[in-house]
Amino acid sequence: MITSVKEILNKAKEGHYAVGAFNTANLEVTQAIIKAASEMHSPVIVQITEKTMNYTGGRAIFNLIKNVAEFYYPKIPVGIHLDHGKSLEIIQRVADIGFNSVMYDGSRDKYDDNLSATKKVVDFCKKRNISVQAELGSVPYFGEIGLEDADWDKYMTNPNQAEEFVEMTGTDALAVAIGNAHGFAKERETPDYARLEMINKKLNIPLILHGASDWESGRVEEVIKRGICCFNVDTAIRLAFVNNLANSLKNKGEISFDIRKVLGSAREAVENAVKEKIKLFGSDGKA
Ligand code: G3H
Ligand code: 13P
Ligand code: ZN
Repeated sequence: MITSVKEILNKAKEGHYAVGAFNTANLEVTQAIIKAASEMHSPVIVQITEKTMNYTGGRAIFNLIKNVAEFYYPKIPVGIHLDHGKSLEIIQRVADIGFNSVMYDGSRDKYDDNLSATKKVVDFCKKRNISVQAELGSVPYFGEIGLEDADWDKYMTNPNQAEEFVEMTGTDALAVAIGNAHGFAKERETPDYARLEMINKKLNIPLILHGASDWESGRVEEVIKRGICCFNVDTAIRLAFVNNLANSLKNKGEISFDIRKVLGSAREAVENAVKEKIKLFGSDGKA
């Protein structure tokens, strides 16, 4: 059942658990995410990026997610979300397609520019009943920080700025940077829990954590206690899919020409990876 991301996030926030927002780029990953959620009785968010839209076509992937959710898993709340939208144009494009939730990511811009661009996006979206996630501070990517110790201070979300930013933009949710990084990059030795706690005290909106695909249960519990109610997961899914595919092609001695067999096996690997995350985040049994 297609449900608004806003509702899924607000329920998670009230219930003190987190949901997963899982990135998809094809049929198999989409099916695996929603099937895993269904078997775990969990709400779920399925999201795509601009690169995925360019790969699949925006309407094709949107309607694929919608059809899988509506026709095959009508009892499970499924939110569809644009991840890391970087311009008002892309937000307008997905609004026309039917998305009711977007991320506007101005985190690479100066504070004032991020604030004014986010505000424009929120103004556009409010009129169309679309909820917005913004990012303040910035969650680096593997290529940006490499394997060495990064200067984490320059990436972190400033709690006072966050309060002003949310008030002035009216964003519905906020992605925060507390030492987390996209991909399986080297992260800050310990996430800045005190900073997250402060941000959570100042804001009364859902807080999202990107780049925590590789976090184990201890860290996950600590941040849920301090207000994180959604984790974005992409790398863990990509690895589950590609590693399984590589094994299928390498280990069989004879390569199967039945793409349904090799992709079906990769789909199962993703389903298992998603189930593990759902259990870790505590959204099992919440649908
Ligand atoms: O943060 C989002 C993704 O992990 C990067 O995804 O390669 O589809 O832009 P992308
Ligand atoms: P990971 O790279 O840790 O999976 O993070 C994904 C993400 O933040 C997508 O927006
Ligand atoms: Zn991200």
